[in-house]
Amino acid sequence: MKHRPRRLRKNAAIRGLVRETTLNINDLICPVFVTEEENIKREIPSMPGQFHFSIDRLEEEINEISTLGIQAVILFGLPEYKDEYASSAHANDGIVQQAVRLIRHNHPELFIITDVCLCQYTSHGHCGIIEDNSIDNDRSVEVLARVTLSHAKAGADMVAPSDMMDGRVKAIREILDNNNYKDVSIMSYSAKYSSAFYGPFREAVSSSPSFGDRKTYQMDPANSDEAIREAGLDLEQGADILMVKPAMAYMDIIHRFKKNFNVPIAAYNVSGEYSMIKAAAKEGFIDETGIMLETITGIKRAGADLIITYFAKDIARWLSSS
Ligand code: PBG
Repeated sequence: MKHRPRRLRKNAAIRGLVRETTLNINDLICPVFVTEEENIKREIPSMPGQFHFSIDRLEEEINEISTLGIQAVILFGLPEYKDEYASSAHANDGIVQQAVRLIRHNHPELFIITDVCLCQYTSHGHCGIIEDNSIDNDRSVEVLARVTLSHAKAGADMVAPSDMMDGRVKAIREILDNNNYKDVSIMSYSAKYSSAFYGPFREAVSSSPSFGDRKTYQMDPANSDEAIREAGLDLEQGADILMVKPAMAYMDIIHRFKKNFNVPIAAYNVSGEYSMIKAAAKEGFIDETGIMLETITGIKRAGADLIITYFAKDIARWLSSS
């Protein structure tokens, strides 16, 4: 037979030679949850293996991440105080701002990304400011810009707006430029879907909306062309990196982004994707390492250049042992 594709699968060496996608530690961004409490390292019940850290214990985690060779973290804050206006989101001594300062000081080698959103900081749990029972886009954008500035002042390298308000990237780019933070980059959650896969995260950061849902700002999971329009707008407004979120059920979107746009594409392997694997592995239904590697390889093969994943440390360990 002239064509025998199995020839190139004969042994590990040839499989390695022809392998098209390989995981690389440089692709990984590790999420970190920081809480405004003291002496806390508390496992998140819905996300086994993930923890809340208070500022005084944060160094343990960051040191481990850095020692494993991971180069980037994305920070999420759990503030003590919430109100209708998300004021603690842009406080100079807010939880994320404190964490950024600490990491910047102790780990100049780490690239610090901050999630810019209001939902963890609003008493109602929505990602924007509420006016007459609906999310007021433009007022929300103003607050998001203030949040960004406070993160940049603290020393963030990159901000990642995850609110899905219209025009936020423009406002964020402007406030950064006007305040001489021209080098702070923007990774936009461009196609952020209104997804049930965020369930464990919302439990982890107590950010479930107290009324309604996020469907008036996050995207309808049924749409793909709309994702391209969103990403096009973000690029026009100054986004440096475009993100798709969640990842596993949206690999077609990752692929379309990669084909359509000549900028780095990020994918967020979200909490529900992580927790499903953890739970099934605990039951003995699946092999956790195998599923983890296949999932993250699939996300990369689809077109993601950067991958935010709660498996970052596990993958780093696997990479260094294999
Ligand atoms: C904040 C935000 C969310 C996630 C990242 N940033 C939650 C949401 O939009 O409800 C989800 C991350 C995950 O599920 O791992 N808006």
